[in-house]
Amino acid sequence: MKELNQRNSGKNIKWHNLTIDRNKLEKMRGHRGIVIWFTGLSGSGKSTLANAVNEILHFDRLSTYVLDGDNIRHGLCKDLGFSDKDREENIRRIGEVANLFMDAGIITITAFVSPFISDRNKVREIIGSKDFIEVYCSANIDICESRDTKGLYKKARSGEIKEFTGISSPYEPPINPEISVDTGSLDLNDSVETVINYLREKNLLANV
Ligand code: ADX
Repeated sequence: MKELNQRNSGKNIKWHNLTIDRNKLEKMRGHRGIVIWFTGLSGSGKSTLANAVNEILHFDRLSTYVLDGDNIRHGLCKDLGFSDKDREENIRRIGEVANLFMDAGIITITAFVSPFISDRNKVREIIGSKDFIEVYCSANIDICESRDTKGLYKKARSGEIKEFTGISSPYEPPINPEISVDTGSLDLNDSVETVINYLREKNLLANV
C-alpha cells in the first residue's frame, strides 16, 4: 500500500500521524491486514463464498470483516444507482473503506460485482498489489441466469431493471486474478478450500 499519508490531500489539510498504527494493530491481532476482493456476475456466488471464507477465518480467531455489495448499498452507497459512473463511485468508496479496514489490521473481505477492470485496478493501486487478492467467481451468465436466486435476471430480461450486469451492462472478467474459482461447477466446500489454500500457501494468514 502507498502509505496513507503520502496520498494527495486537499489544500490546507495536513496528515495527522497516529501512534497506534497499522504495524501495532497487526501485531495485536497476530496477522496481517489484507483485502480479499470477490468479483463476478450477480448470482455467481460471491456473497455466499465470502461469507463462508469469513466463517473459517473467524473461527480461527482472526480479525475479519465482510463488506457486501447489497448491504453497503443500504447505507454508505444508498445514493448510488447502477450507471457506469455510479458503479465507479461505489467501487472507489469501497476501495477506500477496505483500505482503512486493512490499515486497522483486519482481513477485509469484499463481495461486489465490480464489473470494470479499470475500477478494480484503481482499488489494487490503493491497496497495493501484495495485499490485494482478487478472486474471480467465474460462474457464467447462463448459469447465473438459470439460478436467478433473487429473481433479478427475469426483471432485467423484461426491461423492468435497466443496466443489469451481463444483460444490459457489461462485465469485464479479470485478466490475471490471484484466484479464479469456478463457482458454476464447484460446490461451496471446494470453492472455500480453493481460497483458503491460496491464503495459506502464500503465507497471508501467518503470525506477525
Ligand atoms: S457494482 O456493479 O456497483 O459493483 P454491487 O455489487 O454494489 O454492484 O451491487 C450489485 C447487487 O445489486 C447485485 O447483487 C444485485 O442484487 C443488485 N442489483 C440491482 N440492480 C442491479 C443492476 N442493474 N446490475 C447489477 N446488480 C444489480
